[in-house]
Amino acid sequence: MATTAPQHDVKDIGLAPDGVLRIEWADRQMPVLAAIRERFERERPLDGCRISACLHVTTETANLARTLRAGGADVVLCASNPLSTQDDVAAALVDEYGISVFAIRGEDNDTYYSHIEAAVDHRPQLTMDDGADVIGYLHSKRREQIPEILGGTEETTTGVIRLHALEAQGELGFPIVAVNEAKTKHLFDNRYGTGQSTVDGIVRATNLLLAGRRFVVAGYGWCGRGIAMRADGMGAHVIVTEVDPMRALEAAMDGYEVMPMERAAEVGDIFVTVTGDKSVITRAHFERMKDGAVLANSGHFNVEIEIPALRDLAESTRTARPNVEEFVLSDGRRVYLVGEGRLVNLAAAEGHPAAVMDMSFANQALSAEYVVANAGDLEAKVYAVPEEIDREIARLKLESMGIEIDTLTEEQARYLASWDEGT
Ligand SMILES: NC(=O)c1ccc[n+]([C@@H]2O[C@H](COP(=O)([O-])OP(=O)(O)OC[C@H]3O[C@@H](n4cnc5c(N)ncnc54)[C@H](O)[C@@H]3O)[C@@H](O)[C@H]2O)c1
Repeated sequence: MATTAPQHDVKDIGLAPDGVLRIEWADRQMPVLAAIRERFERERPLDGCRISACLHVTTETANLARTLRAGGADVVLCASNPLSTQDDVAAALVDEYGISVFAIRGEDNDTYYSHIEAAVDHRPQLTMDDGADVIGYLHSKRREQIPEILGGTEETTTGVIRLHALEAQGELGFPIVAVNEAKTKHLFDNRYGTGQSTVDGIVRATNLLLAGRRFVVAGYGWCGRGIAMRADGMGAHVIVTEVDPMRALEAAMDGYEVMPMERAAEVGDIFVTVTGDKSVITRAHFERMKDGAVLANSGHFNVEIEIPALRDLAESTRTARPNVEEFVLSDGRRVYLVGEGRLVNLAAAEGHPAAVMDMSFANQALSAEYVVANAGDLEAKVYAVPEEIDREIARLKLESMGIEIDTLTEEQARYLASWDEGT
């Protein structure tokens, strides 16, 4: 236990023992981060660096925070979503690991932003975001702090889109490494992590059998592919809606039915939006839905399903089960919304399995080290994760799985680099 508790605003510090158990459980599934933590303890590449991290406060994030601290960083953590905080983990981080945390599950909007403000008050030299909220706050309300910042990292697709927009306007104040763009992040986290945990959230919340149901996935990006794959594996009939012809074609070739949302709305039993876009399921769609349709979102913000319109249409609402709200429409049809339309895998389940977050957060830790080591050479731009970091994480992951691979012989390397041999 920490001797003096660091600054915090958590639900109940007494929950810490449960949090410690769960953090340790996750740690067993996070061998890549553990290997990095051991090296960080020896080399302390983040010595004295103040980090403000705005991430989902989960067991896996706790192990990332421990790793950053092992590297010598002074870390403050706040939530990147009001519903994703695991209160026992927040308590454990404060009480057992001595890390400042500002996060309470279910916090209202004002509290959410006051927690981001608390993280910014830490005067970060490095920011770590999942949705660009700290960066957004610094660029809109605390511009005077920008010169103190060496750089930052961004975890998710939606955050990266916002940062590219900021960069394009010439407004980005410091360099950012877009962790999402690493292959060891989006090929695994977005696809396998979101795939499994989104289905898990829907099943936990509703206890529905997926086999034989029409399962509509809006958006066939990295996340959508994973969700479709897993729903398909459980026997659902998957329908994909898309706006990008290439992705739509891919979905069709992968064996799914592709159609506009307007038609999918009429036939779907379960809907998941995962586009990063807004107003994907709207009033016109609710009006066509079958009685009992279940709606969930796994995209970053709760704007993919037009919830105000659903509220407006409903004659009455009630909580049907924990995390499931029932909307009764004027003709008696009932539509169910899971997890308030927020990230369903975090609101109604436990987020990604630790083994997947291991690789995403290994990217975070190594990208933080990279930003600090190269601060002088980086410009105020959005950077991809360096290829060496990606390959190193893949190597560490394979090693932890006991998997060996072949190595190119000299002859093969020469052959692959040549143009005249074999023709
Ligand atoms: N739930 C989680 O844990 C989790 C994890 C990673 C990412 N995300 C979030 O999920 C979202 C998607 O991420 P991704 O990596 O799959 O992004 P992506 O860019 O690979 O895919 C998004 C897809 O949605 C499509 N799309 C956009 N607007 C659409 C519309 N109106 N109707 C149908 N399709 C539309 C795009 O054409 C694209 O193919 C983002 O908001 C991201 O931040 C959530």
